[in-house]
Order: sequence, then structure tokens, then C-alpha cells
Amino acid sequence: MRILLLTHSFNGLTQRLYAELASRRHDLSIEFDIADSVTEEAVALFRPDLIIAPFLKRAISESIWSRYCCLIVHPGPAGDRGPSALDWAVQQGVRQWGVTVLQAEAEMDAGPVWASALFPMRTGRKSSIYRHEITEMAVQAVLSAVERKLRAYYLPKRVPEEAHGLIGQADRAIDWQHESSAAILAKLHAADGFPGVADRLFGQPCHLFDAWPEATLKGPPGCLLGRRETAICRATVDGAVWLGHIKPAGGIKLPATLAMPDAEKLPELPLAGLWKSPTPTWQDISYEEADWNGNAVGFLSFEFYNGAMSTSQCRRLTEAFRWASSRPTRVIVLRGGSDFWSNGIHLNTIEAAESPPDESWANINAIDDLAEAILCCETQLTVAAVGGNAGAGGCFLARAADFVWVRDGVMLNPHYKNMGNLYGSEFWTYLLPPRVGEEGARAIMRHRLPMTAPEAVRLGFYDACLPGHGFAIDVARRAAELAAASDFTQQLAAKQARRQGDEAAKPLADYRAEELNEMRRNFYGFDPSYHVARYHFVSRSAHSWTPRHLARHRDLDWKVPA
Ligand code: COA
Repeated sequence: MRILLLTHSFNGLTQRLYAELASRRHDLSIEFDIADSVTEEAVALFRPDLIIAPFLKRAISESIWSRYCCLIVHPGPAGDRGPSALDWAVQQGVRQWGVTVLQAEAEMDAGPVWASALFPMRTGRKSSIYRHEITEMAVQAVLSAVERKLRAYYLPKRVPEEAHGLIGQADRAIDWQHESSAAILAKLHAADGFPGVADRLFGQPCHLFDAWPEATLKGPPGCLLGRRETAICRATVDGAVWLGHIKPAGGIKLPATLAMPDAEKLPELPLAGLWKSPTPTWQDISYEEADWNGNAVGFLSFEFYNGAMSTSQCRRLTEAFRWASSRPTRVIVLRGGSDFWSNGIHLNTIEAAESPPDESWANINAIDDLAEAILCCETQLTVAAVGGNAGAGGCFLARAADFVWVRDGVMLNPHYKNMGNLYGSEFWTYLLPPRVGEEGARAIMRHRLPMTAPEAVRLGFYDACLPGHGFAIDVARRAAELAAASDFTQQLAAKQARRQGDEAAKPLADYRAEELNEMRRNFYGFDPSYHVARYHFVSRSAHSWTPRHLARHRDLDWKVPA
């Protein structure tokens, strides 16, 4: 079918649906929902058999839905209606939730249902549930709806409705004097990603994000108990919670202590080390070990919000990696975070810096140091276990490991072009050609579209695509097998020899210098594209047009179908 994806932005869910539909050979194009007249123009150019709306912030106009079958992805079970479906579900702690694909009509979310899917709800952030459960279920539901649409005789069903209104800041408001940690976490989780919970800290209005539970610290309710790295701990009536990110009024979302400079005065509440804390607390870098008959594997997790890696996070992670490689293990698994493996340098901390070019420079050097530490590790075999999406430099950072195992369903954006034509670093010029060839490397860097996990493996970019369910267990089993392999010593020796040979042919320092030379031009040069793109990205500026690489129907050589 010729399918137009009408969406507010090309977000993770839309990327995934695009990939799934493309792999089933549907003819696809994308239009951002900017104005009714623009959508009408897109529809006239593309003449779709079907319009799918994975992520909209407003209703589709009658001029469209009365002429074309428009299927809306609603993040709630069949019958649920309203603009804050998932927010309410997370805040109220429902046990089961779902995704529905329904046909657009005059009343929002009230049309007949083409497909729906249910899932058990877990305790977690709205943004995380959206990126995992909602995305998986939406893929299932959209694919069945498309199948049903192809079978012309399927009649979508009307179901009894239950409407929930728009959740407002009054519903989200936290009473620090009286509410429990669990209730506060539920509110913060329900608002995570967007819009956050409106509150005040240090007398300033702000929005709170990225909440973590705290099991042991206590204090007078509402008091700020201290800080750890970039997070702030605040007491509740029965304990405390950590606040990882804050958006000050009129500002951008930042690590909490950066957003609130007064937090400097709070006492530091350090952890004893990198070992994973046995009780819940804020710990963005954590380490665990498992030993199978003397063949130990180290697991290094880095739970960085949104996968963004600031200069200081890169430096702390490099230190953690060096420490992990001093342990008596045979394999180190780099687990990344649960939602993202890495999205490269931290564009928000760069934007907030006194000199964004200088901070960009410091950040890219810090991430390159980390990549170099992984590349030069002589004591273990290293594995990047990419269980969450990865973008830009994050995709190449993973490739610095000896093996990259990626979860089926992960979306990769291994290119820098969309961020103002950045050249990119993280040793991609060294890492890519041996795996995908010179032309393949150029194609990856030119390509602005997302890549699926199987595609990454097919191209030779990554090494294995593991099933979505049980990824963590599969990774642990494979890592244990690697550590116990009878030829482990030979594998390690071969890796060392390969690195020495490569170094002799062309030192890593040369690759780095060449890449950074280009990056210096991006950061300090005459062309401001990167700074403009970064500003719009961190400000979450609304799109005013659909990029040409997405809107195929706007190609100059596009022929309107008969
Ligand atoms: N720095 C800071 N924040 C980042 C980030 C980065 N490198 N990458 C993603 N984020 C944030 C987004 O701002 C967004 O924040 P929110 O919590 O306010 O919504 C959140 O992560 C999710 O990103 P979003 O773009 O909505 O996710 P997506 O799944 O639609 O798209 C990417 C994923 C990777 C394509 C997209 O986030 C991206 O292009 N990131 C920038 C990558 C980059 O250019 N890095 C620098 C060069 S190494």
C-alpha cells in the first residue's frame, strides 16, 4: 500500500513503524503535522491508500479524514479516550495498559477500532514505557490494522468508551509535606520526558524530571538533603527521592545541579564506589560481576538521561571503564542505559555552557577518550550490548567494542548529518571501513534515515541481533560463553596483534586528529549550521517543514500517482 505517515515529529515510535512497514515493502512517505493546508497538499501529492498517524498532538482535519482512511495510534487500550492517556495510567499505577489503532473521525479517539494490544504495566517512567511497551504494541497493532485494511472485508469495531481529560499541572502537583515517596515518584514518572512536574527549588519556578527512588536517606519532608554528582536528593514524608534533571522556567532541561547552581551548597552524598548499590538510590554508573567457573564477566551500566553524555559523564565513564578493565575478568559488557545506549555528546549541557564551541570541543574530546580507552583495552574482550536506541556518536562509540550485540527492535541513527552537518568523530573513520567498506562507510554517514538492528548486522556494522525478549539474559549467556571459550587466550592475543598492526599502519592519534580537524571547523568555523541545529534541537522548536529526505512526495522528480 501507499502509506503516508502523518506525525508531529519523526520520533522513535514513528521511526520504528517506518522501518517495519518499509521492510514489508509498503510505499512510504512522511509529512509532519504542521498545518491543515500543508497536509492537504501532501495528500494531494502522495495520494495515499492509507494515512497512519503514530504521534499527533492535535486532531486530523475533516478535509482529510472524510476522504482518506486515517488510522491513529492511541497510547491506551481500546475504548480509552483523551489526550493524556499514558500520563494517567502511569500516575494511577494501573496494572494493564494498551495501544489502540482507531480510525479518525470528528470526535477525537472515538472512531472505530482496527486493532489493539494489551501489555502488563511496570513501574517506570512514561518516556520509558512509551519507548518500550507502547512502541512494541503499536508495531503489533499497526501491522494487524494494515493487514486488515488490505483484506477489504474487515469492518472496524466500535467499542464502549471511557474518556479521561487532559492531565494538568494541578493534577501533577506534589505536596512534599504529606505525600509518600511512591506517590511522588508516580507523579514524576507520569510527567517524564514532557512536560515534567511544575515545582519550585531554591525559590525558583521549574519543572522536575528524571526521578530515582532512594531507599535509606531521610529528612524533614520537602528538605533538600544533598547532591550526588549532578542529582539532588529531596526528602518526602517517608523517605526521599532523587531529582536528576530540572528545567528552570524559561530555560532548557539540564542535569539538576547545573540547572540550579545553588545546589553547590548542598552536602555531597557520595556512593562508596562503582559496585551496583544493593538498595535503590541514584547511581548513573554502576558495575556488577558474574563468575562462571573462574571466568568472570564485568557488566558496566551507564544510565545517562536520554543517552546524552556530557564531558564530565564521559570522563567518569572512562575512569569507570579503566577501573573495570583492572579487574580480574575476561569480558567487559558495556550495557548503556535501559532506554538509550548512547546518543553521543550532550547537546543541552553544550547549549547551556558559557562558550558552546569550547564545550562542544571538550565534550567530543572526552567521548573520544572513552572510545580510545575501549579500543585500546588489552586485558579483556569487550562487548557493547545495545539494548536501547542509539544515535549519532553513540552508535560509533558502541563499535569501539570488540563485539556489538544489538536488541531486535532497537532503532539506530548512525549519522551526524541531521545535527547541522557535523562531520563526527568517535573514530568512525577507523572503525567503519574494515567492517562495511569505504563506500559503505560513506553511505552510512550520508544516509539520514534510521537503521534497524537486523540491517546494522546485515551491513556488517554490528555483529549480532538478539531477540527483543530476554535480551539481558541472552547477553549474559553469550558473554559467559565468550569468557569460557577454549580459544579465549588466542582471541585476546589476536585482538592485541590486530590493534598493534593497525597502530603501525596508521596511529589512532592520526584518525582522531583528522576527525577533530573537521569537527573544529563545525564548532568554530564560519558555517553556524551545527549551532543553529543544536539550538532548535534543545529548545524542542516546532518543525516548520518536513525534511526532504522524509517527504518523498515533495521530491522534485516525484510523479503524482494516477
Ligand atoms: N544531547 C542531549 N539531549 C539529547 C541528545 C543529545 N545528544 N539526544 C537525544 N536527546 C534528548 C532529546 O532532546 C529528547 O529530550 P526530551 O526528554 O526533552 O524529550 C530525548 O533525548 C529523546 O530524544 P528524541 O529526539 O525525542 O528521541 P527520538 O527517538 O525521536 O530520536 C535521535 C533519537 C538520536 C535521532 C535524536 O534524539 C537525535 O538526533 N539526537 C541527537 C544526536 C546527536 O546529534 N548527537 C550529537 C552528535 S554526537
